[in-house]
Amino acid sequence: MIRFDVLTLFPSIFDGFLSESILKGAIESGKLLVRLHNMRDWATDKHAGMDDRPFGGGPGMVLKADRVVPCVESVRAMEDQLGRLVMFTPQGRKFDQKLAERLAVEERLILLCGRYEGFDERVVELLQPDELSIGDYVLNGGEVAAMVLIESVMRLLPEVLGDSDSNKFDSFSSGNRLLDCVQYTRPREYRGLSVPEVLLSGNHAEIAQWRAENSLQRTKLRRPDLLDS
Ligand code: ADE
Repeated sequence: MIRFDVLTLFPSIFDGFLSESILKGAIESGKLLVRLHNMRDWATDKHAGMDDRPFGGGPGMVLKADRVVPCVESVRAMEDQLGRLVMFTPQGRKFDQKLAERLAVEERLILLCGRYEGFDERVVELLQPDELSIGDYVLNGGEVAAMVLIESVMRLLPEVLGDSDSNKFDSFSSGNRLLDCVQYTRPREYRGLSVPEVLLSGNHAEIAQWRAENSLQRTKLRRPDLLDS
């Protein structure tokens, strides 16, 4: 069981995400618990707002430390287990499969989703979160990044995926630095395109060999950086 506490200004963004498919099943079977917290609920004076203009000028608004810090502290105190605090920002360390594997052993993760021009730096100084980015592009806020983290971590929990969805051989998982090979299903021929003969041969050794070669070729072509590392 892993518990996520998500702190956001827009909790309803997560509704559809959590109520379908594998995530829904994991929640129903008690392997995953996600608690959504609206940071606005901690604003003592609703008119004062969560954000303010940046000192020194410039565009946009900054999330206020005196709103966000008490909010994280009180969510933390909801459980004995303090949990690991993650903050989403394009300035963070790049999130990848290796980090997902490391986070999957945690019991509790607290995910802090920014908006606007981000957080007052004193939030970082006081709470010392792991600052994570999901890639070199800019989102409207951390919510989509939080969904990426939740989904990639929960797939790694024991018994969340059925055998048919097994994640052991996924691209990027530990011990696999190759892209997946191509896949085909019926029909054998479609619009003049046929399935490679070897996949129909029933010869498991040959199929394994062909797939390994296909993975390697695709990786060389598309992601040579994976072979360097
Ligand atoms: N917030 C805005 N852009 C982001 C990104 N790329 N990763 C994480 N959080 C973000």
